[in-house]
Amino acid sequence: MEKIVVNGGKKLEGECKIQGSKNASLPIIGATMLSSGENILHMCPMLRDTETACKILQLLGCKTNWQEDALIINSSGLCNNEISKNLMNQMRSSIIFLGAILARCGEARVYFPGGCDIGSRPIDLHIDALKKMGVDVNECGGQLDCKVNGNRMHGAEIFLSFPSVGATENILLAAVTAKGKTVINNAAVEPEIEDLCNYLNKCGAKIVGGGTQIIQIDGVDSLKPCEYTIMPDRIVAATLLCGVAATGGEIFLKSVNAGNLSSVLPVLSDMGCRVRVFGKSIFLKAKDFLFAPKQPIRTMPYPGFPTDLQPIMMALSCFAEGTTIFVETIFENRFRHVPELKRLGASIRVEGRVAVVEGSRELRGACVYGTDLRGGAALIVAGLAAMGRTEIFRLCYVDRGYEKIEEQFSELGANIFRI
Ligand code: UD1
Repeated sequence: MEKIVVNGGKKLEGECKIQGSKNASLPIIGATMLSSGENILHMCPMLRDTETACKILQLLGCKTNWQEDALIINSSGLCNNEISKNLMNQMRSSIIFLGAILARCGEARVYFPGGCDIGSRPIDLHIDALKKMGVDVNECGGQLDCKVNGNRMHGAEIFLSFPSVGATENILLAAVTAKGKTVINNAAVEPEIEDLCNYLNKCGAKIVGGGTQIIQIDGVDSLKPCEYTIMPDRIVAATLLCGVAATGGEIFLKSVNAGNLSSVLPVLSDMGCRVRVFGKSIFLKAKDFLFAPKQPIRTMPYPGFPTDLQPIMMALSCFAEGTTIFVETIFENRFRHVPELKRLGASIRVEGRVAVVEGSRELRGACVYGTDLRGGAALIVAGLAAMGRTEIFRLCYVDRGYEKIEEQFSELGANIFRI
């Protein structure tokens, strides 16, 4: 079985450029379906999830082609409206293709999506919104048969009971070419939503308020393809910062938007790291001994602390003197990395949605198993700072979201390799 081996305890140092954002790329890849012609997406990361997204487009009849850092998509040949069960199972984000297929074809057959097992992850908000926009949905045994009433979806006033990222994206993709005006109230405000809106507006959509809680979309008849550069990945940026901090090292991160990490950088400062922002770069220098942050870390929708960084920050906190408390409010099953961190000697107690970490510098290498995407990254971060050899198995998860994570840490001086 493929594994990443880390001989930990080496101080990391150097500079790094950040890959394009996975979570911004996926809905934008889905959105290319809305325009016939060639879209060029720069900085699109080459990952398992973006490959899955390309496979979905190919299945639907689109052409996809990588050229260096760019993904080129031509959706003129789109002729199918069903995503296979197998592809739907591979990632949760496959559901955000639904709004775009309905906009383009008027009908769609999809299945309940799979993805990392971090909670029940329902799709009721997506489905309720599409129904309000004139879609009939028939559900049978996990299969969803959807059909637009009439020849086009229509705009609607939608109120999300929770600011779901995926539901906001699905509604946007359905609404940009729907007839009339759609308003999404309590929309997700994650920067990746704003990136999607920027892409869609560049294609000719009329969206106001992307990245705020109220998004207004005036439906247009059609979109034209465009050339677009995906935003940098804030979760990857923070993973690198945490990995370096755990080793007491220093890093200069280039091409990153520090504003998107406003809930994360103060925690790192609080733990004893010197953090400086210079335009699109972040400099971090860690102390040899980190301290537990004074406040509990509570995951929240943006701009709160990202749930995707909870496992990674937990790995770092294992090396910080004192007690760190994590409260996971977004996903109910997002502590599956805890037993793996414990194999390295971490002291962590979990009760419901709360995890309490007693930090120490005594962690030692062990064999551990990736449990989900960010949980896998957390094990790598822990392995970098643990003494001795850590072997991380089940890389299928971490490869969903990181472009060669071991090479990035290796360039910073880590003794890390994949075999
Ligand atoms: C996206 C991100 C993921 C991140 C998450 C929260 C992508 C590809 N993935 O996932 O990395 O961890 O946002 O920031 O962008 N919910 C419902 N009903 C729905 C939809 C969601 O109850 O119809 C609930 C979920 O169970 C969960 C919460 O809302 O508790 C957040 O989910 P959501 O924001 O939709 O996350 P994703 O879009 O799946």
